[in-house]
Amino acid sequence: MSELENQNTGFSESWLSLREPADHAARNTALVTQLVQWRARRQQHLHIIEIGAGTGSNLRFLLPKLGHHQHWLLVDYDATLLEHLPRILKPWTDSQKAQLTISDDQLRIEHDEFSAIVEWQVIDLSSDLEKLQSQRTDLLLGSALLDLTSAHWLDSLAKLCIEKQCTCLFALNYDGRVKWQPELDSDKRINQLLNTHQLNDKGFGKALGPTAGMYFANRLEQWGREVLTHRSDWQISSTTISESAALQHAIIDGWAPAAIEQSSSEQTMIKQWQHERREFIDKGESELMVGHLEVLSLT
Ligand SMILES: C[S@@+](CC[C@H](N)C(=O)[O-])C[C@H]1O[C@@H](n2cnc3c(N)ncnc32)[C@H](O)[C@@H]1O
Repeated sequence: MSELENQNTGFSESWLSLREPADHAARNTALVTQLVQWRARRQQHLHIIEIGAGTGSNLRFLLPKLGHHQHWLLVDYDATLLEHLPRILKPWTDSQKAQLTISDDQLRIEHDEFSAIVEWQVIDLSSDLEKLQSQRTDLLLGSALLDLTSAHWLDSLAKLCIEKQCTCLFALNYDGRVKWQPELDSDKRINQLLNTHQLNDKGFGKALGPTAGMYFANRLEQWGREVLTHRSDWQISSTTISESAALQHAIIDGWAPAAIEQSSSEQTMIKQWQHERREFIDKGESELMVGHLEVLSLT
């Protein structure tokens, strides 16, 4: 899920870091295995572009799995997130026992089993996707991005993948399914309001929200590519995710204002829902599933 979880902070570093363990735990093993096998069949330097890269969560997930030698270009329109990459990556490379060398516009990550040069570029993908046209790309990646975008933009993205003849993997596309435990009668209505709110324009034209991942997969297939899709659902509970309570609090504090924005006449019901959900979380009883679709197309 890309957009609704935290209306107040948007894509802040703290929000992206809070959700990262749930994102990584949700990733579909079958698709990642297929990607790793695809990579093993190519010995050469792997050129990777990650769009909407944020703080590099997808890099932290995939880089150790993709071996030697990789070149990553991380693209986002948020210059601040990208500028902080060296500081954000340092504790991660330390935890991996990898060496991180930082220069002005480039990072080098070296480990016995994987290595990469990492660069970054500020691009507004809503208007300037074609700037990626000339960049060498074996693998095009995105994570928690497609549901922000429109049918028109997804057509351009599918066209880019086909013209580049590159493998692509788009992970964690929210698909509209939400399930809370314990359940409340108001959950269903809140979910309807959220899924409608998801369709608001996030800068790419009217968003497809929950249907974006499947729309993109269908477009690639219609234009001749083989596509694999799998679920990659968040399963958030105190037994699965260490910061489960903080993450669930952040999620309801994002969802409640979104629901009110969608239907202000239901404000009392929505605030009551928020209050009851908070109580379940504080008692350690709350569990949340958020549905995602993951899309892989191999070359
Ligand atoms: C939900 S975050 C996901 C970040 C990262 N991929 C992850 O999985 O943690 C969506 C990202 O898309 C970026 N983004 C949104 N609109 C964009 C645009 N028009 N151009 C470039 N990046 C954009 C945001 O800045 C943010 O980093």
